[in-house]
Amino acid sequence: MPSTLPEGQAAPRDGALPPDAVAALGTRSFGCYVHVPFCAVRCGYCDFNTYTALELGNAPGASRDTYAEAAVAEIALAREVLGERAVPLDTVFFGGGTPTLLPAADLVSIVAALRREFGLSPDAEVTTEANPDSVTPADLETLRAGGINRISFGMQSSVPSVLATLDRTHDPARFPSVVRWARSAGFDQVSLDLIYGTPGESLDDWHASVNAAVALEPDHVSAYALIVEQGTALARRIARGDLPAPDDDDVADKYELVDDSLAAAGYEWYEVSNWARGERSTCRHNLGYWQGSDWWGSDPAPTPTSAVCAGGT
Ligand SMILES: C[S@@+](CC[C@H](N)C(=O)[O-])C[C@H]1O[C@@H](n2cnc3c(N)ncnc32)[C@H](O)[C@@H]1O
Ligand code: SF4
Repeated sequence: MPSTLPEGQAAPRDGALPPDAVAALGTRSFGCYVHVPFCAVRCGYCDFNTYTALELGNAPGASRDTYAEAAVAEIALAREVLGERAVPLDTVFFGGGTPTLLPAADLVSIVAALRREFGLSPDAEVTTEANPDSVTPADLETLRAGGINRISFGMQSSVPSVLATLDRTHDPARFPSVVRWARSAGFDQVSLDLIYGTPGESLDDWHASVNAAVALEPDHVSAYALIVEQGTALARRIARGDLPAPDDDDVADKYELVDDSLAAAGYEWYEVSNWARGERSTCRHNLGYWQGSDWWGSDPAPTPTSAVCAGGT
């Protein structure tokens, strides 16, 4: 099977960083991204680094049971590499994959490791992505009590036929409950992800999805134009002629629609695909990437240590 690793130098096994990567540490925001590469089902449009349970088996560090341990070991490595230069984290982001496929206690153990090794700034933003199928009220309580204070749910659409084309398995009727559970658990920052331009999605479908999202009163909305990524099942379906390719004019109309609707509902556009209810609700971790802040990335790699990145991006 051809390598799917990105081009460039592999991270060294000891996690060592070039001096210029850490030169400005402490003078600008510092974050940590923790990738959790598991999904219950792979959505046909997604080319993120994710695996279903059957794909990985039970190799140490590769199964859901041992992943948190591997992430905690990497965080200890990060602390060792940064040594005296280490500073408290301003932002943490659990992305995926579907981080909430790990037991909530495992995600909390990773937050505890970050707190132990680096410390968290007093107003640190700690986000997890979540799939609505993969959280219960008890999980949300555990995540919030463990220091995660922002949650981003993958809603994508409220229209069943659009969700089916995207291979999404969640029931859109579950969303009001999931958002309510998050609020009850104490999350005062809730974000929803939407996708527009799915083959077969009408402008009315998109309007309905945006209205459904606004009705849930999230603090933040990410709306992404569907990208047909090479090598995905969606790309193959389009190549075979089973589905039409997204149309640029339709996608542009949908972008205008979401921007107008969110502005009318009191959300401010602050990044290409992101809107927030005021500055306090922007995603500071994401802004850190755009602004060239420092961050450590922990994710699966074919070496005993994970791939590492720090320094401006
Ligand atoms: C890691 S996923 C979010 C968490 C969770 N796995 C889920 O899907 O609900 C991050 C977001 O990327 C977006 N995304 C993934 N692949 C995309 C694509 N090909 N085009 C546009 N957006 C995409 C989706 O909106 C998704 O919510
Ligand atoms: S969109 Fe989310 S749930 Fe779907 S395969 Fe990608 S990471 Fe997994």
